[in-house]
Amino acid sequence: MQTVHTIAQLRATVDQWRGRRERVAFVPTMGNLHAGHLQLVKRAGRAGDKVVVSIFVNPTQFGCGEDYGTYPRTLKQDSLKLAESGAHLLFVPEVSEIYPFGAGHTTQVDVPDLSTILCGASRPGHFTGVATVVTKLFNAVRPHVAVFGEKDYQQLLLVRRMVADLCLPIEIIGVPTLREPDGLAMSSRNGYLSAEERERAPALQQALARGGEALLAGERDHPSLCARISTLLLKSGFRPDYISIRRAEDLAEPQAADSRLIILAAAWLGSTRLIDNLPVTLKNPE
Ligand code: PAF
Repeated sequence: MQTVHTIAQLRATVDQWRGRRERVAFVPTMGNLHAGHLQLVKRAGRAGDKVVVSIFVNPTQFGCGEDYGTYPRTLKQDSLKLAESGAHLLFVPEVSEIYPFGAGHTTQVDVPDLSTILCGASRPGHFTGVATVVTKLFNAVRPHVAVFGEKDYQQLLLVRRMVADLCLPIEIIGVPTLREPDGLAMSSRNGYLSAEERERAPALQQALARGGEALLAGERDHPSLCARISTLLLKSGFRPDYISIRRAEDLAEPQAADSRLIILAAAWLGSTRLIDNLPVTLKNPE
């Protein structure tokens, strides 16, 4: 696996591949890789002839007081894992390579509607940072296909919407969330949990599962169901940020006839904010 730090080096290799009509698959990451990331890399390997992975802790998607400064930078271990998982090229740019005029003075990409709800409401500016950096990375890498995890479901839909809106010729593939044996969704931020918090953490997925069962059993009072999920989380020591039942396709408020729903939640465990979601398909929605 080749590692490059500049867009010029990246393009020199990708241009050769494209010249040979090879299909380029891309996985953007912020590093501190776990098995969930490696699953995205493996999926990319099936979607393309060559796999590019980026590791870039993007300053513009972190808010004031968030963990940009302390986000784990584990490049050595990450490179070894990526080489073993079949990546061909690792792109590790400096902030100045991605933001040549400064991160605070960049041209921004704003995806309406999806940027300001749910996680976007709790983390103002977060999704503008994500859309901006993903656009820059797409322009740098020029992939045919890019792979994102469904754990960050709102991010996945935002990227799909942005690609459609900006007419970018890139196929977006979503990969189901990989979980620990006790059900906790894999996340780089799980490493922030104390031993005691880690024991409690699967309660987030369990509360969503109770919600899913209720929807499948015919519960249609979504506010009351979300309140019950919130109570379960409070009892397990979480501080819920939001719990919401949305249409899976676009995160709009569901209508009675909608069958593909998703329950999304964000909740604090101590000083760590965890997110998770559960897609639910109703057989007889109305
Ligand atoms: O999901 C992430 O790790 C990041 O939001 C991404 C897509 C790499 C953009 O910085």
